[in-house]
Amino acid sequence: MSGRIDDLLSRMTWDEKLGQLQIVFRPNPDDAVALVRRGVGSTFWPPSAAATNTLQRVAVEETRLGIPLLVGLDVIHGQRTIAPIPLAQAAAFDPELVRSLAYLAATEARSGGVTWTFSPMADVSRDPRWGRVSEGFGEDPLLTSLLVTAMVQGYQGDDLSAPDAIAATAKHFVGYGAGEGGRDYNGADLSERALRTVHLPPFEAAVRAGAASVMAAFTSVSGIPMHAHRRLLTDVLKREWGFDGVVVGDAEGVANLVPHGVAEDVPDAVRQSFAAGLDVEMGGAPLALTADDLAPGRLDPARIDDAVRRVLRMKEALGLFENPYVDPTAEITAPDADSRALVRAAAARGSVLLHNDGILPLGEPRRLLLTGPYATSTDHLGAWVQFFGAHAGSVADELRARRPELDTVVEEGVDFLSGDDAGIAAAVEAARGAEVAVVLAGEPSALSGEAASRSDLRLPGRQEDLIRAVAATGTPTVVLLVTGRPLVVTDWIDEVAATVVVWHGGTEAPAAVVDLLLGVAEPAGRLPMSFPRSVGQVPIHYAHENTGRPAATGGTLTAHHHDVGLHGPGNVQDKYTSKYLDLPLGPRFSFGHGSGYARFTHAEPRVSASVFPADGPGDETVLTVTVAVTNTSDRRGDEVVQVFARDVVASTTQPVRRLVGFARKTVDAGDTATVTIPVRREALALWSDGWTVEPGAFELHVGSTLETTRMVTVVAE
Ligand code: BGC
Repeated sequence: MSGRIDDLLSRMTWDEKLGQLQIVFRPNPDDAVALVRRGVGSTFWPPSAAATNTLQRVAVEETRLGIPLLVGLDVIHGQRTIAPIPLAQAAAFDPELVRSLAYLAATEARSGGVTWTFSPMADVSRDPRWGRVSEGFGEDPLLTSLLVTAMVQGYQGDDLSAPDAIAATAKHFVGYGAGEGGRDYNGADLSERALRTVHLPPFEAAVRAGAASVMAAFTSVSGIPMHAHRRLLTDVLKREWGFDGVVVGDAEGVANLVPHGVAEDVPDAVRQSFAAGLDVEMGGAPLALTADDLAPGRLDPARIDDAVRRVLRMKEALGLFENPYVDPTAEITAPDADSRALVRAAAARGSVLLHNDGILPLGEPRRLLLTGPYATSTDHLGAWVQFFGAHAGSVADELRARRPELDTVVEEGVDFLSGDDAGIAAAVEAARGAEVAVVLAGEPSALSGEAASRSDLRLPGRQEDLIRAVAATGTPTVVLLVTGRPLVVTDWIDEVAATVVVWHGGTEAPAAVVDLLLGVAEPAGRLPMSFPRSVGQVPIHYAHENTGRPAATGGTLTAHHHDVGLHGPGNVQDKYTSKYLDLPLGPRFSFGHGSGYARFTHAEPRVSASVFPADGPGDETVLTVTVAVTNTSDRRGDEVVQVFARDVVASTTQPVRRLVGFARKTVDAGDTATVTIPVRREALALWSDGWTVEPGAFELHVGSTLETTRMVTVVAE
């Protein structure tokens, strides 16, 4: 324990301690100065290096103990140079990319005095109605864990005091992604098994990666709001996992315990939260309270000391006691050529080719129609970045600037949301005269992010009508989907020649989109979340369990349906199986779906060991899977190899498939590459009062997507 922290603690008054345990939610600049004078230990970013120095100076020179501030900001996918949204980053299936984007963000943010970001979002999300799926890494615990790890490492580096490092926050602990009905802030009833196998692993990965802080979720888990959840905040996070960083509340999450109906009033809420294991309140609740409300007799002094120590340790690790100030002349306030190149490559790398009849890349069309609201919209940054003065251009401007010789006709046809279809006729007319029609459709960023749940997952407004009308002209039609969540594409996708999901791609999204269209880059990502056929299937994810009655085929709703099945021993016909009568089985596009412009064949997968010990350390690699992939096309391209496991017989029902490893590889035309993927023991473990690998057979399914896997069986002994 640092002498400085012991010394400070021994000299702090009760009020000075409580001051360290709050961050006031986005105060205006004048209020911020007053709050710091009053002893509040953390603040939101003011927003410039100079303004940050001003606040630090107040803290260091005008408060009794001169303790510097933590300066927090939601740097979610970039600060000045905006990277693709996290869901798009996940689609790249490339932890190294996520690490480099987080490092870029950290460099920009720290140069302006930010020391603490509220990212990464480690919530596994299996419900695309929830708007915040855009901020996370999708439906899979392993993919999410690996990318959370990469993001934490990218932000923090090896040394938090470095001028290119910021403290990361894994949020929202825990279960926020599971809110009933996909409605934001809604509670979830989560079994220990669901917590341990789906929702907790990415947070544990963040803790193992050294994340400096963890944010409590707004939601309740099995009846206890997370800001008051002592078992999860203290027993699991702090004791079981040994997390010694800061648990920060979400904005007003403490005061929200009152409407949740578990606290009588705000003082009660504050007391419950600190007792449960919260270290820093975000909002302002304690400021509003009287000394009596928070007197030492009503808050456990030992718990408060522990929280203060955690905050001071973070300040110390960030090097703030030595150097609270930043050099305003070195502040990065705009993207540069390198940062632009990185996020442009990232936007292409996370794009997913849903299908392609061969029309993409476009070759050399002379006359091209760009239609749809995203032809001219500049709304590519995603839902989080409206505060930082960043901006993107439009695809139409980008294409015209780069290829002035092309005859590019732009006819939006419809806007994002309205019912106005008057412009469709002009788009149809223009499509008739074009060699290719490109529809840039999607969700404006305001439809994703926080408090942006949707009950309808189709393209909003009249965009689907536009796609169908343009495709009906017979002109080959390509759809690019700019979106923050999986969409229901069922009603139009079979009418068009190719569809690419480009997500909200950030500062350089238009350049990346043009790169993809022209074949300068390829969309070789994979879906990190399934695209459902209909909202009625939701929540739907690939790692579901079998029922006792798995269906062989999907629904075939007919008038005679009630006659079809006879139900008896050995005679369970397809009627009495688990499915919807009115839908084929499975999502429209599953997790892991995607291809690219190159073509690949795979040899039979090989394993380094067909028998492995069931017992041993979780992080030990128990076998490797090797597969030779051959690029049979005439262009260089990327292949993603995914390895899914199925525990054939276990003591509890297990997912039909679960991702246990993956790799993305660039292969030259005509070449063969050997891809080797390590599989750790913990990836094959199940939870029953602890992690265990049960002896017996595991199927490993290896391939480019879930639908194209080959199987090899291994045995745990
Ligand atoms: C969000 C958090 C965010 C916080 C601070 C809240 O509304 O849920 O994700 O970090 O605001 O801006």
